[in-house]
Amino acid sequence: MAIQTLLLLLAATTSTLAAPSPNPPNSTTYPLPPPTVPSGLPSSCTAETLPNPTLFSALTLAPNAVDRFNLLSDNDLVYNFADPCRKFGVAKGLGGNVTRADHATFPALTTQRGSLAIGFLGPCGFNTPHVHPRAAELNLVIEGQLFAQSVTENGARTISHTLKKYEMTVFPMGAVHTEFNPLCTPSVFVASFPDEDPGVGQIAQEYFGLNKEIVTGSAGGEVSIEGKDVDAFRGLIPDNVAKGVDSCLVKCGIAKR
Ligand SMILES: *[C@@H]1O[C@H](CO)[C@@H](O)[C@H](O)[C@H]1NC(C)=O
Ligand SMILES: *[C@@H]1O[C@H](CO)[C@@H](O)[C@H](O)[C@H]1NC(C)=O
Repeated sequence: MAIQTLLLLLAATTSTLAAPSPNPPNSTTYPLPPPTVPSGLPSSCTAETLPNPTLFSALTLAPNAVDRFNLLSDNDLVYNFADPCRKFGVAKGLGGNVTRADHATFPALTTQRGSLAIGFLGPCGFNTPHVHPRAAELNLVIEGQLFAQSVTENGARTISHTLKKYEMTVFPMGAVHTEFNPLCTPSVFVASFPDEDPGVGQIAQEYFGLNKEIVTGSAGGEVSIEGKDVDAFRGLIPDNVAKGVDSCLVKCGIAKR
């Protein structure tokens, strides 16, 4: 394109942008629209609760613990697990939510070597099978009950138990484990981790995310599971916390979807 044409184009664009608006809006003549609710949050939320990423970087770079703590206001040291306006740090599905405080969602944990999550499980709420790649989990029931199953590695036996209120179990680092609320009333558990960033991997999502041929091959080939079924499964895997399991849903008279 010739340089003259470019300059002409540029001049045209600039003049359009610079054209004065005949009647500049202000808040008196044009009342501000009501605040929009970020999608997926209750209507009482005007904004999503977000951690402060600059604070996290500053805490990470602080030369010592005194300087690090001086970067935190008193409010920075409080984390509300029941905040309904939080999306980052929350796994939410039809059966409830698991809300976590790790060093990304609660920067005050930076260098403190621990983190915590609370699972709010509705009737039959199902925390689907998962692993924490970098930490063991202490799981304490503080309301209701939890049926739990876990298996630590190849050759290890599968462990099952029902935890009642104020009973605790341990899921070793890397163990595949799952919990569901067997009651028709809510259950709540607290999970603590000796790591600021324990991580979580949901087994069904990870496994069915592999190439279709790998999924069918590792499950016994096309005789046992057809490729098209893998596609169908992918679309049907529920978000954690799921509404399950079937026997509980029947007992409590809850519809599946
Ligand atoms: C807003 O606009 C109105 C009418 O044009 C004007 O009277 C008023 O002073 C303006 N208010 C502000 C804050 O600019
Ligand atoms: C998670 O569930 C609890 C209990 O119902 C609720 O108080 C909290 O607001 C929920 N969190 C989110 C982000 O929805």
